[in-house]
Amino acid sequence: MRVTKLGFIGLNSSRIDDARAHYLDVLGMSLLGGGGRDGVHFGCAGSELSVSLMPDVTPGLSAVGYEITTEKSLKEVVADLRGDGVSASIRTDFLPGLSEVVEIKDPDGNPLYLYTCSELQEVVKTAPGIRPNKLGHVALFVEDAPRHAKFFTDVLGFRWSDWLEDSFVFMRCNADHHSMNFMTDEKKRGLFHVAFELQDWSHIGRACDDLGARDIPLLWGPGRHGMGHNIFTYHRDPDGNIVELFCDLDRMSDESLGAFDPRPYHEDFPQKPKVWPRSKRAANSWGVMAPPAFHE
Ligand SMILES: [Fe+2]
Repeated sequence: MRVTKLGFIGLNSSRIDDARAHYLDVLGMSLLGGGGRDGVHFGCAGSELSVSLMPDVTPGLSAVGYEITTEKSLKEVVADLRGDGVSASIRTDFLPGLSEVVEIKDPDGNPLYLYTCSELQEVVKTAPGIRPNKLGHVALFVEDAPRHAKFFTDVLGFRWSDWLEDSFVFMRCNADHHSMNFMTDEKKRGLFHVAFELQDWSHIGRACDDLGARDIPLLWGPGRHGMGHNIFTYHRDPDGNIVELFCDLDRMSDESLGAFDPRPYHEDFPQKPKVWPRSKRAANSWGVMAPPAFHE
């Protein structure tokens, strides 16, 4: 069993109406039917679940879902996981398009859901707006990034793409440089940011104009990260979650080469997975560092 795709993020929202408007009208996602329990569910450009919002007094991460590839049944996957000492169970019909999932927990206790495919859902409503291509990655604050990296490697088949020293790791489950990042933090746990892929640099520009027209300020960016080389902007959703919009993320089209597809803005030729020193270049090769508000 191996993860092949980041599927969805679950977020608890203490301002569900405002959050619904943000993901539907501002980000321009597709509102999906089903799911119940007063939650609202969104696809990115299509009708597969990408974002699930649930009302809760405490906002923050509630789940991350992944597509897996396996020749076994989910019951056999559960048995294998238990055999490896990972607590696992089956859940049914709790989110749109996911009739059967395997629930496990990461080393910090965050719920993770594994499924072989998500059924396409009825799109109830679409709105104009930014309209991302897809959910790109989820970044978490964790107690111990090396422990998280080992769990995601050993249990879920991820590979590491870059480390910032030994405290921040970027991990891939397909050609994309990262679908998950883990940053060690002494105090913070849960969501660091959620990131959506846009088409290209001109789409980022239009997104910045859309956010500006709605008086939603950018927290940081545009810039180009060193690790992953994605062009980025960050803003906050109504619950205060940091949302990244990005394009140009590195890809490793051929795992056997062990290097990312070459680009003129790379530092190394070939650009291989490596441990980066803490530096301006690692954070933003265009030279502007994150303001204090990004870390609040
Ligand atoms: Fe990111």
